[in-house]
Amino acid sequence: MAKTIQAIRGMNDCSPTETPLWQWVETKVRNVLASYGYSEVRMPIVESTPLFARAIGEVTDVVSKEMYTFWDNDEQLTLRPEGTAGCVRAAIERGWIYNNEQRLWYMGPMFRHERPQKGRYRQFHQAGVEVFGIPNPEIDAELIILTARLWKALGIDQHVSLQLNSIGSLEARANYRSALVAFLEQHQSLMSDEEKERLVKNPLRILDTKNQALQEVLNDAPKLLDYLDEESREHFTQLCSLLDAMGIQYEVNPKLVRGLDYYNKTVFEWVTSALGAQGTVCGGGRYDGLVEQLGGHATQGVGFAMGLERLVLLVQEVNKDVPVAKAVDVYIVYSGEGATLNAFQIAETLRSELPDLRVMTHCSGGKFQKQFKRADKLEAEFALVIGESEVTEKTVVIKDLRSGMEQITVPQTALVAELQKRFS
Ligand code: HAM
Repeated sequence: MAKTIQAIRGMNDCSPTETPLWQWVETKVRNVLASYGYSEVRMPIVESTPLFARAIGEVTDVVSKEMYTFWDNDEQLTLRPEGTAGCVRAAIERGWIYNNEQRLWYMGPMFRHERPQKGRYRQFHQAGVEVFGIPNPEIDAELIILTARLWKALGIDQHVSLQLNSIGSLEARANYRSALVAFLEQHQSLMSDEEKERLVKNPLRILDTKNQALQEVLNDAPKLLDYLDEESREHFTQLCSLLDAMGIQYEVNPKLVRGLDYYNKTVFEWVTSALGAQGTVCGGGRYDGLVEQLGGHATQGVGFAMGLERLVLLVQEVNKDVPVAKAVDVYIVYSGEGATLNAFQIAETLRSELPDLRVMTHCSGGKFQKQFKRADKLEAEFALVIGESEVTEKTVVIKDLRSGMEQITVPQTALVAELQKRFS
């Protein structure tokens, strides 16, 4: 036998038994977004590398070590590691934001060369939202309220909690950065080489270190909230009071800074403790400078993205009530002279008249017994049986595979009505 070829590490297949749950989750996402009036957009999976370097930031983990980048003749291209950069690029290029404000969403695969583990993959899927042109904290609140509604729809609301912070303006962050570096320089003995490098390149990322000793020291570090500019402070206060009034619970986490450079003011993450180390199911925030930074007219932005693998895992873990859609309702078994054609005709009639019904014809020959076994394996509700006598008499046998009720023979012209009765 020829040697088999394996999937790339960290890139998953979705098997026929898994897709129904994925589709269920995706449908909930689509329905909630539609109920807020958001419009779907689709962007390419590959973009030019400088887009991500400029948008996400050269010194972020994503850009400095996780991107899948390759040369296409003399152009450097990257598999998108996230959706915001491409969405902003498209919004500027296609004029999506100049007519009026826009509330957009997308869903699809993203690629990051991370060390794979449960909940962390090299190809993963995000559903993301980007809103352009609204400076007020109302829209930040709407995004959070929308996600809270989605968690309810997915049955995971008791297992996620909201972390919220404001990282202020660029200037406020620069002031804070100096204060933080001055503080952290006194604790370099606790730092790994990587953290020492971060201290120079991206000190705010040290705030979400996993290093226990450093975490403790950080409790006494200067707080970003104390360095906020007046406008950001006011924005954050208004957002918090809206969330309070709407009954959304959150924890203000002064160490929450997010791993991408484009944010300002509001940042937030929805986290769970049910998935082990990869507990962030959704993250986002405001990025008021990004459109301009990528060459557009100054336009505010705010958005978030959720990891669909993590949501699917969480739903599997905590929501046992997800209806599992079966692939087949009616399985058509047939044998004998003229039966193949008759089976095909009946199947097509059913698909035209009862479009919600899932109808499968056997197609692979063999005895009736073998065909019934197949129907059973697929958990079909009914088998329709067509033998030579049914072909001649223009009848069909309906066999209930679940309840064990007597099978009945009906004229083929009455079949649609019979099945309609049984599935109504
Ligand atoms: P992010 O925090 O990098 O933000 O990713 C958002 C979510 O994608 C994470 O919370 C997580 O659920 C999921 N995710 C990230 N990396 C992986 C991975 N390797 N495997 C599985 N899931 C993963 C962004 O991507 C921003 N673009 C969000 C945003 C939109 N901010 C404003 N607008």
